[in-house]
Amino acid sequence: MSQNNSQLAALIDLSPSVAEFRASVWAGLAQHQKTIPAKFFYDREGSRLFEEICLTPEYYPTRTEKKLLADVVSEIAGLAGPGRAVLEFGSGAGVKTRALLDRLDAPAAYVPVEISRARLVEVTSELAADYPKIQIAPVCADYTKPFNLPSVAMGVAHWLGFFPGSTIGNFTPPQAVQFLSQVRRMLGTTGLMLIGVDLRKDIAVLNAAYNDAAGVTADFNLNLLTRINRELDGDFDLSQFGHSAFYEPEQGRIEMHLISRRAQSVNVAGRAFDFAADETIHTENSYKYDVDQFRCLAASAGWSHRAVWTDSDRLFSLHLLACE
Ligand SMILES: C[S@@+](CC[C@H](N)C(=O)[O-])C[C@H]1O[C@@H](n2cnc3c(N)ncnc32)[C@H](O)[C@@H]1O
Repeated sequence: MSQNNSQLAALIDLSPSVAEFRASVWAGLAQHQKTIPAKFFYDREGSRLFEEICLTPEYYPTRTEKKLLADVVSEIAGLAGPGRAVLEFGSGAGVKTRALLDRLDAPAAYVPVEISRARLVEVTSELAADYPKIQIAPVCADYTKPFNLPSVAMGVAHWLGFFPGSTIGNFTPPQAVQFLSQVRRMLGTTGLMLIGVDLRKDIAVLNAAYNDAAGVTADFNLNLLTRINRELDGDFDLSQFGHSAFYEPEQGRIEMHLISRRAQSVNVAGRAFDFAADETIHTENSYKYDVDQFRCLAASAGWSHRAVWTDSDRLFSLHLLACE
C-alpha cells in the first residue's frame, strides 16, 4: 500500500468506461440541441489544456481564488479544527489542495475524487512525496454518481469537503442542489464543505475569460472532438468546427459550444449524425452566482453557512458550509 515512505494507497479506479462515453455521446448528439457532458473534456490533454487556461491573462478565476484562499486559509484551518480528513472533488492539478494541506492542523487523510485518471495518478504521487505524513487515497470516479469511499475513510471522524475552481458552476442549479445533498450525506453530521464559487460580474470580463486571445479555451473545447475521434472511432473534421462561448444573462451562465462551420455529417462509433451550418454542440455551462443566491442554493441542500469570503474586487467567493 505505501510507496517511498509515503502513505499513498492504491488508486481506486471507477473511471467511466468507453461504453459509457460512447452511450453519452450518441445520446447527446441525437438531441435537438446537441450536447456532450463537460466531464468528458478531461482526458490527459484536456487536463493539460485546462491548466494552461488557468494561466491566461483573461481567466481571472484561478488566480483570484488562489489569492483569496491564501489570504483566508488560516481562518479556515481555525474553523475546521484539528484532524479533519479532506475529500476533494475534481482535484485537477492539486495546487489549491497544497494551500489547504499546508495550513490544516494534522489532516487525517486526503481523498481526491477526479475523473482524469492520468492527471490524478501524477498529482497524487507528487503530493505523497511532499506530504509523507498524510494518508492519500485517490479515487478516479465521476463524482456525480454514487461511489464508495476508500478504506481509509472508515477511521475518519470529521470531514472537510473541498470543491474549488467554481466547478459547481458546471451543474444547473437543480443538479447543484442534488450534488450538494449527496455530498452532505457522505460527509456526515460534523462535515464541513469549502466551495469556490465564481461571482456574477461585468459581462465583458466573463466573455473574455472564456474567449482568451491565445485560443487556449478554443483548443480545450475542440479537444473533445479529438478525443471522440481517437476513443470512439469518430471522424470529426476539426477544421470544420469552431469555438463559441458567451454569457447568457437570463440563466446567469457562460455557455460553451462547438459550432459547425457548414452542413455536414459526422460518424461516431458507426453512427452518423447530421449537422446544419451553424448548428452547435453545447459542451459546458458555467453558472455564476451572487453570494446570497449561492447561500440559498446551499441551504436548499440542507447546508448552513459558517463563513463566506470574497476578494476585494468581488470577482470570486469561497463559502464554508456546515452540515448542521
Ligand atoms: C474546472 S476544473 C478545476 C480543477 C481544480 N479543482 C482547480 O480548482 O483548478 C474541474 C476538475 O474537475 C474534474 N471533473 C470534472 N467533472 C468531473 C466529474 N463528473 N467527476 C470527477 N471529476 C470531474 C476535471 O477533471 C477537472 O480536474
